[in-house]
Amino acid sequence: MEFSRRRNFPVECVLFFLLLNQVVNGNVNKEPCHFPAVFNFGDSNSDTGGLSAAFGQAGPPHGESFFHHPAGRYCDGRLVIDFIAQSFRLPFLSAVLDSLGSNFTHGANFATAGSTIRPQNTTLHQSGFSPFSLNVQWYQFNDFHQRVQAILAKKDDNRVFKTLVPQLEDFSRALYTFDIGQNDLTAGLFQNLTADEVKASVPDILGQFKTVIKNIYNNQEGRSFWIHNTGPFGCLPYVLDRQLATAGQVDKHGCVGPFNDLAQFFNHRLKETVDQLREELPKATITYVDVYSVKYALITQATRNGFVHPLRACCGHGGKYNYNMHIGCGGKVKVNGKDILVGKACKDPTVMVNWDGVHYTQAANKWIFDRIVNGSFSDPPTPIALACHKQY
Ligand SMILES: *[C@@H]1O[C@H](CO)[C@@H](O)[C@H](O)[C@H]1NC(C)=O
Ligand SMILES: *[C@@H]1O[C@H](CO)[C@@H](O)[C@H](O)[C@H]1NC(C)=O
Ligand SMILES: *[C@@H]1O[C@H](CO)[C@@H](O)[C@H](O)[C@H]1NC(C)=O
Ligand SMILES: *[C@@H]1O[C@H](CO)[C@@H](O)[C@H](O)[C@H]1NC(C)=O
Repeated sequence: MEFSRRRNFPVECVLFFLLLNQVVNGNVNKEPCHFPAVFNFGDSNSDTGGLSAAFGQAGPPHGESFFHHPAGRYCDGRLVIDFIAQSFRLPFLSAVLDSLGSNFTHGANFATAGSTIRPQNTTLHQSGFSPFSLNVQWYQFNDFHQRVQAILAKKDDNRVFKTLVPQLEDFSRALYTFDIGQNDLTAGLFQNLTADEVKASVPDILGQFKTVIKNIYNNQEGRSFWIHNTGPFGCLPYVLDRQLATAGQVDKHGCVGPFNDLAQFFNHRLKETVDQLREELPKATITYVDVYSVKYALITQATRNGFVHPLRACCGHGGKYNYNMHIGCGGKVKVNGKDILVGKACKDPTVMVNWDGVHYTQAANKWIFDRIVNGSFSDPPTPIALACHKQY
């Protein structure tokens, strides 16, 4: 008693500074999470081969800056999800739809280009949207989990399969990453819905998003979630080229303001949804990442950041944005009766923001990754390596 009373003041002093330190930097003294696996869900922003496996490879010059051949990515090289895997010293994620050469020991990728959260009721051929909407990605993940359980439970001749799948405990220790929603918004706009009509569908879209997070929490005991918000698609050539907006809606950066407002409307609701999930899933750590602001800064301050022509596609064909929806990157165009590959038109993709009119270049993806990795665009401000620790 006596002893502790005499120590009261200094102990409180130390506690005070510890607390202050926690407030100033909540991440001090936290062990990195050592995620054994990453399970990713999303659209083309994080597709490492899904759509290519199902509907045919996106041909050259995709992949040329890093893989030196097409690698299932709509990019000249790596995506943000690739930089995330590398930062954990994990291999690149295999697409779950890739039947050969895949190794799922450290995770799996369920994302496909053109994926939406809600099923679209149209075929890829009709609308360009993937049949692998988020609910389907969840069915695939749940089936994956069940097959892993069966493989690990068998004592006999399953050796090869055992070296290709995660451990059972990895499902609760993994990082679950999400980058999806942009296509739900553009799907509405491309059907000529007004921005207000699309806004009215956002609660249903986010309700379906929520269901999938809860399923992973309840069925696979997923605990760490890293959720990207949606980007400023009003600045992307494939949206600008459709001329869905009137001239007065183009802002001083050349982007369609009302479409970016729609993206931000979705993002605010997504953030509210994340808050609800934190209450409903008390054992989960959910980080919301404001990728929108990073991409918007890159596009609107491209020169200052070492990039040029942020609204022009590097690989494309013609027009103000070097983009033509009928003649895409890697496609063929007839010139004087000869088939010519729609290839890389820009001299140097390392200074370009946009790759093919829809997707970012590897250089842009690296720039984006470098800004989100340390948590400065996250809520709470958790670096990705600490995304298993609760801070709210
Ligand atoms: C698809 O059809 C179902 C059933 O009619 C409907 O409830 C759903 O909203 C539709 N999805 C979209 C994205 O329009
Ligand atoms: C799959 O990857 C893991 C970890 O990188 C490795 O130990 C295992 O041998 C690989 N399996 C095969 C069949 O290559
Ligand atoms: C949307 O409007 C444009 C221009 O009026 C029209 O060409 C196009 O067919 C419409 N699209 C749909 C899906 O109705
Ligand atoms: C995070 O990284 C960015 C870019 O490298 C840097 O500008 C920023 O100050 C860093 N923030 C923190 C909190 O470390």
